[in-house]
Amino acid sequence: MVEIPDYLLERSREARARFQGTSVEPSEQSTAVVESSAGSEENVPAVSETPEAEIEKVEPPKPLAPWVEAAKNRKKIPVWMAPVALFLPIWAFMIWGTLEEPTSNEVGPIAAGGEIYSQCSACHGAGGGGGVGYQLNEGEVLKTFPDVESHIAWVVNGSSASGTPYGNPEREGGQRISQDQGVMPGFASLGSLQILEVVLYERVTHGLQDPESLEAYVIWAESGALPVWESGISPQSIASSFAEFLETNPEAEMLYEETLEEAAG
Ligand code: HEC
Repeated sequence: MVEIPDYLLERSREARARFQGTSVEPSEQSTAVVESSAGSEENVPAVSETPEAEIEKVEPPKPLAPWVEAAKNRKKIPVWMAPVALFLPIWAFMIWGTLEEPTSNEVGPIAAGGEIYSQCSACHGAGGGGGVGYQLNEGEVLKTFPDVESHIAWVVNGSSASGTPYGNPEREGGQRISQDQGVMPGFASLGSLQILEVVLYERVTHGLQDPESLEAYVIWAESGALPVWESGISPQSIASSFAEFLETNPEAEMLYEETLEEAAG
């Protein structure tokens, strides 16, 4: 005979009683236990007490509310999404940065001029701080050459005959006199584009000129339409070439006129 544990018998009796709406009498319960375990009399007192406590625990599972059900069954966001979501704004920010058009400081003629300046740095210092040649940085070069054309002409020609004044006559500290400082060679052999580039570079990097005010010259450099500048060229000749170019390029002309208006205040 298979022995059914007393507590199981008790539980089923309890369930049946609950179903029929009657209650299990404690007396009935103990007799039932005695009956089922008829062979082993020592068992009776031991098991008769415990079942009550265990029966209490049996409770039917509560039905889940439909919204709880829906929440449990819905697709979950994978765990690895957490770091992805965390870095998303950073990536977005980085990508945004690459979308912006680079300024002419990073690419284009002004940056290209930085390469050419390596031919000047032996005398003027890597940062334009001066040496054999004058200091150019901290705005110095603009004090000597307020206009682009005189600056270009100087670099093409180099030093004038000893004692010849050059640059702005009203320069603070007095006008420059050629060969007071030494002799600078002319750089006509560099080519017009390279000379314009290094001049734009010096004006922005050393002269601290706003690159926006040089946009028209940047367009001129990029146009591929620069004249050849040979040794002996004058600032006036360069200025008239530039004026001719502006007539062919309305965008550059507009930018240049804006610059003049801003300078006039
Ligand atoms: C061998 C040395 C030497 C080199 C190389 C040299 N310079 Fe000069 N630079 C000088 C000297 C010296 C002067 C002053 C010349 C004078 O007084 O006649 C000068 C003057 C200048 C001035 C005028 C500064 C002022 O305030 O008077 C500019 C601008 C200039 N150089 C630009 C350049 C550029 C651009 C390059 C390179 C393409 C260059 N220099 C290469 C020696 C040099």
